[in-house]
Amino acid sequence: MSQSIGIGLAGFGTVGAGVYKNLAANGGLVAQRLGARFEVLRIAVRDLQKPRDPSVPVELFTADANDLIADPNIRVVVELMGGIEMPLQFVKNAIKAGKSVVTGNKALLAEHGQEIFHLAREHRKPVFYEAAVAGGIPIIKVVRESFVANRFESIHGILNGTSNYILTRMTDTGMDFAPALAEAQKLGYAETDPSLDVNGWDAAHKAIILASLAYGFWLDPSKIFVSGIEQLTASDIRLSDDLGYRIKLLATIRAGEDKAIEVRVCPTLIPKSHVLASVNGVFNAIAVRGDIVGETLFYGRGAGQDPTSSSVLADLAEAAVGLETSRFCYGFTSHDLYGKCQPLEESVSRYYLRLSVDDRPGVLAQIAGALGESGIGILSVIQPESHCEGSAVLVLMVHDAQFGPMRNATEKIAALACVKGPPMLLHVESFA
Ligand SMILES: NC(=O)c1ccc[n+]([C@@H]2O[C@H](COP(=O)([O-])OP(=O)(O)OC[C@H]3O[C@@H](n4cnc5c(N)ncnc54)[C@H](OP(=O)(O)O)[C@@H]3O)[C@@H](O)[C@H]2O)c1
Repeated sequence: MSQSIGIGLAGFGTVGAGVYKNLAANGGLVAQRLGARFEVLRIAVRDLQKPRDPSVPVELFTADANDLIADPNIRVVVELMGGIEMPLQFVKNAIKAGKSVVTGNKALLAEHGQEIFHLAREHRKPVFYEAAVAGGIPIIKVVRESFVANRFESIHGILNGTSNYILTRMTDTGMDFAPALAEAQKLGYAETDPSLDVNGWDAAHKAIILASLAYGFWLDPSKIFVSGIEQLTASDIRLSDDLGYRIKLLATIRAGEDKAIEVRVCPTLIPKSHVLASVNGVFNAIAVRGDIVGETLFYGRGAGQDPTSSSVLADLAEAAVGLETSRFCYGFTSHDLYGKCQPLEESVSRYYLRLSVDDRPGVLAQIAGALGESGIGILSVIQPESHCEGSAVLVLMVHDAQFGPMRNATEKIAALACVKGPPMLLHVESFA
């Protein structure tokens, strides 16, 4: 390989500008390692008047992303625009026009992965997406290639840096969710609209992609359990700490019985002794357990201009090899070892249940009774000292139970006259 490969960047925001900047800085090194040089021929943006950093010859810009597809000298398009509908059309048209595609768009793949990869296979064109999951951590390549001979027993991931930063600050300082979010926004770790980060869906999009790739079928987003960190209080963090746990927004992906897999993304108690409990700040980490390789761990920055563009550049290199040899995977290959998500109601876990209750005899018996009616046992109970006359906080650690009965029992408990305010029910992960 020694040719120049024409690429088109659709998007010149945080990641697109990073790709351009890092290609300018390290393109020579990539060329020596790869024997091919990338040349950015067109860049699509929304606003042609916006000042750009780094500066770029103005003639490269277009406000119409279709210009990239129409240019016969562009062989690889890089979709870094964000959103879903417009990028979907763009990616589909690019595949149909015979371009290789690189994208960092997790929402697009989580919602339309099946359609996109079907088209990619039909047209024999690859779609690469390393940047879509965990920014600079090369987890897609690991799951797709390095562990190709493994059955995946489980994948656990801290996949959203914003929520991990917020939880770390709540743990370190004792502050509540709102001030921790405000601090993250001030430092540029959270968007002005942080909804997708804190409601769990950014991490869920990444979990859907990882699980689909690992288990060989595209997951239906409506079949997985997603819950965010907005309702967590400083006292949940402190009480979990007293019990020997850290709370993390954790993606849990696990092979189950009968070709089913379990996928949930929610605030989860992790034993302090587990390595994921010490992943702090904006960092991401993914623990993958394969039946041959055993336990593995991947750690790094899950977002940001440089880490994310590092992954985009790796995908460009892979696309370049494919152009030369016509040997590539399409980005996703289905297989028939698995094929459905376990119904949420049937998934089994331990739980943390925090309640505000009347401070009087007999209350615990009523709560234990409601759990017992659903066949659920209590592992331990703690009652921290109360500073509120007449009321108390109770924390119950609950035995392995199916989520359906546990949720029903929690609803019954919430309706008891002795229970004040909504209960807090969280999963506890044992990594068994
Ligand atoms: N930021 C990260 O750390 C990160 C990490 C991993 C993955 N990603 C993913 O990477 C993608 C890009 O993220 P980003 O943070 O770089 O976004 P961004 O900063 O908002 O940049 C988006 C870019 O796309 C352009 N654009 C938007 N709609 C367009 C359209 N219809 N036609 C032409 N250009 C259009 C914008 O043009 P203007 O500049 O004119 O507005 C802007 O240059 C997203 O899918 C995101 O989920 C981001």
